[in-house]
Amino acid sequence: MEKLIIKGGNQLHGEINCSGAKNAGLPILASSILFSDSIQVGNLPHLKDISTMLELLNSMGSDICLEENGMLTIDSSNLTNPEARYELVKTMRASILVMGPLLAKYGRAKISQPGGCNIGTRPIDFHLSGLEQMGAEIKIDSKFIYLEAKKLRPIDFSFPKISVTGTENLIMAAIFTPGVTNLKNCAKEPEVVDLINFLNSCGAKIEGAGTSNISITGVEDLVGGDWNILPDRIEAGTYLVAGAITNGHVRINNISDNLILPIITTLERMGVTIKKGKDWVEVDATTSDLKSVDIETGPFPGFPTDMQAQFMTLNCISDGSSLTTETVFENRFQHVTELKKMGAKISLNNNQAKIEGVSNLVGSNVSASDLRASASLVLAGLVGKNRTQIDDIYHIDRGYECIEEKLNKLGAEIIREPTI
Ligand code: UD1
Repeated sequence: MEKLIIKGGNQLHGEINCSGAKNAGLPILASSILFSDSIQVGNLPHLKDISTMLELLNSMGSDICLEENGMLTIDSSNLTNPEARYELVKTMRASILVMGPLLAKYGRAKISQPGGCNIGTRPIDFHLSGLEQMGAEIKIDSKFIYLEAKKLRPIDFSFPKISVTGTENLIMAAIFTPGVTNLKNCAKEPEVVDLINFLNSCGAKIEGAGTSNISITGVEDLVGGDWNILPDRIEAGTYLVAGAITNGHVRINNISDNLILPIITTLERMGVTIKKGKDWVEVDATTSDLKSVDIETGPFPGFPTDMQAQFMTLNCISDGSSLTTETVFENRFQHVTELKKMGAKISLNNNQAKIEGVSNLVGSNVSASDLRASASLVLAGLVGKNRTQIDDIYHIDRGYECIEEKLNKLGAEIIREPTI
């Protein structure tokens, strides 16, 4: 176990590069299972979740090779063991993304019950009911989900609630299903679009990317191709908030503003200046007095739930009071207790948090409970008086590539130490 120690109070200045998106990399890596030859993937972030997915694929029989050009070649054409082992996947919910591809290609899958961030019950009933309607026989015990289908059939399926990995799983399951599978109320997230664009570039027939209605016409095979993962809009958004919260001036390279419009408009409403170019976005808060704003999360193109915790920290030290309403997950306020230890004034009522802005936060010993909550604590540490210690930073490494290196490059003082 490791901890981060942050000396607060430094204004951040300079520029950093945005890494590839974890949430696009994971389904694209899982999709390698569908191929009869290898695929090449570039711009993959160096993250614990990505290495867990690679280890999972490797344990099932995939060959993985890092090329000289930095691309990763994944050959999952001869999987010997379509089973996602419990020890490997219990820590990562996205392991369920191998379910659809395994069924499509091998007609069976054995998947550990998913783990991951502790932000609610996070069932996978939509994934399972879609697959069941497609003809899969499903058995569940305390540790594993067993799926078997001699043949999958096309369905018309409407998601009861928008689900990102649910959409991705059913798309991949339907790739080889003869006929047309119609999915309604699908996720429009850019990461889903990235997966669809990649699969279509390899011969899949998927229509409706970025809309609620997606249709998949079954094809016989996919032809291995190469793909660069799109940039991580949540990482970019987190570092823009880091610039704003420290009254700094920070440019994020390798991100296009149309991926992060709700983040940009919320920052502008809070009073900071945003400039943007073709592939960069800059925040300038050097002369800004931050104003509190209400936030309500929602599926894309709404305000991302994955940025809720970070903006809550920003609201904590902004003028006035604000309401944050979480509509995607029912238990995504675990950062609140920790932020309160640092002097934040927040009261919770069901899925709403009321935040009274304070003039500053004070460094404290806090603990990271989930990925984005951890990021909100790092932001609080950047602005908090004195020293903040964040324990259990395992979750941060699941989703932020070299977080302390990137922030220190901008002038932060963060060190990583082993927990004794
Ligand atoms: C993905 C993202 C995660 C993000 C979330 C919402 C990945 C790897 N992770 O998670 O970072 O926070 O989208 O943008 O891409 N639900 C059900 N039954 C299901 C599936 C979902 O009730 O079968 C509910 C969930 O509990 C939640 C909501 O639907 O309340 C949305 O969840 P979903 O979009 O599925 O989240 P993930 O795909 O797990």
